[in-house]
Amino acid sequence: FKGAKNLEIEFPDVAASPERGKVLFAENCARCHGNNGEGVYNADKSGYTYPPLWGQYGYQPGSSMHRVIKQAQWLKSNMPYDKVQLGKPYLTDKEALDIAAYVNDDSVHTRPNPKTLDYPDKMGKPIDYAHSPFNDNFSEEQHKYGPYKPIIAYWKKQGWKAVY
Ligand code: HEC
Repeated sequence: FKGAKNLEIEFPDVAASPERGKVLFAENCARCHGNNGEGVYNADKSGYTYPPLWGQYGYQPGSSMHRVIKQAQWLKSNMPYDKVQLGKPYLTDKEALDIAAYVNDDSVHTRPNPKTLDYPDKMGKPIDYAHSPFNDNFSEEQHKYGPYKPIIAYWKKQGWKAVY
C-alpha cells in the first residue's frame, strides 16, 4: 500500500488467538489470498496479483511478516487491501493480532527455508521474534502470541527498551 506506515497496536490483556484469527481470515482475507493462503497468480504467471501468505512460496520464517506484532501493525495500515484507506484502519487492533497469529501459526502452516532463527543481539531482538534464547524467562509461546504487556513491563523494570 503506497505511503502506508505501520500503525501502532494497543495490546490486549489476553494472548492473540489463532482460532479466532482463522474465522476472521475467512471473512476478510481469503477472497484474495485464498482459503489456503496460496494467493493468486497474475495472468502471465510472472508474479502474483495476491501474494501467497504461507506454503512453499510464502515469506520465510524469521522475516518481519512472520512476527505477530509486526504483521498486525502492518495489517492495520494495509489490509484488507480493498477496504483500508490511508490513515483509516479497517481491522481493530485485536482482530489484526488474531489474524496475524493465525497466518503465522506454524503448527498449521508451512514456510520455505526453515532456517536457524538465531538473532545476533538479544537486547535488540524484537519481543515477538519468538525463538529462544531471550533476555527474560517468558516462553516462546508467549513471545509469539502474547500477552505482550507483561514482557514489555518486565523489560521496562530492568531499564531496557522492548523492541517490536
Ligand atoms: C482485495 C484483495 C485483498 C484482500 C481482501 C486482502 N489482501 Fe493482503 N494483499 C493484497 C495485495 C494486492 C497485496 C500486495 C500489496 C503490497 O505488497 O503492498 C497483499 C499483501 C499482503 C501481505 C504481504 C505478503 C508479503 O509476502 O509481503 C500480507 C501479509 C497480507 N496481504 C495479508 C492479508 C490479510 C491477513 C488480509 C485480511 C485481513 C488481507 N491480506 C486481505 C490483496 C488483498
